[in-house]
Amino acid sequence: MNEPSEVSQRVRQQYEDAPFPPVSAFPVRSEVDRVWLYSFPEVYYHAFGQWRDPARARLLDAGCGTGMGVQQIRHLAPGAEVHACDLSNASLRVAGQRIEALNQGPVSFHQMDLLDLSALPGTFDAIFCSGVVHHTGDPVLALRQLKSKLKPDGVLYLMLYSRFGRRPTMLMRRVLQLLEADVPLGRQLFAALPKDHFLARWEYETKGSHNLTHREWFIDTYLNAQEKNYSIGEVFSDLGEAGLRFVRFAHPQWWELQNRLQAPPEIVRRFAALPEQQRYELMENLFSDQEEYYFLATHSEYQPAEPVRDPARWTAIRSSFARNRGLQADGGSLWQGYYGMGLSVDAYFEALVEGCDGRQSVRDMCAAWNRRHPQDPPELSQAVLFQMERQGVLFFKEIP
Ligand SMILES: C[S@@+](CC[C@H](N)C(=O)[O-])C[C@H]1O[C@@H](n2cnc3c(N)ncnc32)[C@H](O)[C@@H]1O
Repeated sequence: MNEPSEVSQRVRQQYEDAPFPPVSAFPVRSEVDRVWLYSFPEVYYHAFGQWRDPARARLLDAGCGTGMGVQQIRHLAPGAEVHACDLSNASLRVAGQRIEALNQGPVSFHQMDLLDLSALPGTFDAIFCSGVVHHTGDPVLALRQLKSKLKPDGVLYLMLYSRFGRRPTMLMRRVLQLLEADVPLGRQLFAALPKDHFLARWEYETKGSHNLTHREWFIDTYLNAQEKNYSIGEVFSDLGEAGLRFVRFAHPQWWELQNRLQAPPEIVRRFAALPEQQRYELMENLFSDQEEYYFLATHSEYQPAEPVRDPARWTAIRSSFARNRGLQADGGSLWQGYYGMGLSVDAYFEALVEGCDGRQSVRDMCAAWNRRHPQDPPELSQAVLFQMERQGVLFFKEIP
């Protein structure tokens, strides 16, 4: 194992002293919060359009902190072999308590520097690395290390800070750096700011004061020993240097101009003609309201085959994250997929969506629905299912 860098030592010291996320905000308990990005089957499906059996998967949470992610990874991938690593022993201890409380199988914990990840045996079908790479002294090396541990057809979930959406945090962080402030002095500065000051409003209104309430959160946000904030250009360039390829954002709708703006057709046309990276660049400059980039990546050289979905061989499953928000006035229901946009399903189609339980083939499900609604074109039901899939309400699985 290599000697940890000076930055890794400082970062480790910080998270030994102030494990994140703080237990004061997220106590250890046996239920888990659930975010689809920690569900291996769904992340894999939405990266490559293919189903992978979780029971056969090897999964890693790299930089697991106090374990809010790894307990979900464990919970949502029954039978998988799950590993987690972090620099901070104090954080690993809490993460271990969460896994014990969950009681759904083991997790192997490793005290380890991301920059030295090659010391970990084996490779993984998925690596989850949320809010970690930007705290290392060498993000490109960290990404290279992650790549070296990813199977050739593996998926990498990353969250990186945005320099656009995080501008208020970056400004306050710099102010506190110049003042060589600690937590009490930082809190005093906030208390001295007029309530309508833009940095005070950011903390009180947008953040709900959680940085002020929890000492560990204040340190993580405003006094972090190391952080890099990314533009889209920098995300793509660091990934490229590390031999990784951007696959998709977790919330693709946010990055589509038409979903955010009633833009004139000529602007929509020019937007659509831009290369992918430039479309994202345009969106971050125009809106600047994403604090963090959540996305999936893989090896640059991995090009998965286009999935061929044979309705007779595929079945549809309602995502465990899709929410039915209840009845609407017309008797239909409003569903919400995990991309955050609501999708209205009228009473006709409700039974079709409700019936997606992974047992019948798409062909049989649609045929049964079509028999009940002979007045509608037969291809409509299948089109609805594919639309629900694009919204993250459903995903498909080949029948074994
Ligand atoms: C902001 S926390 C995120 C924790 C967790 N991933 C989450 O989303 O809740 C950052 C974590 O990364 C860990 N970390 C930072 N640099 C690291 C490195 N070089 N190697 C391993 N872990 C590191 C810290 O110890 C800390 O637990």
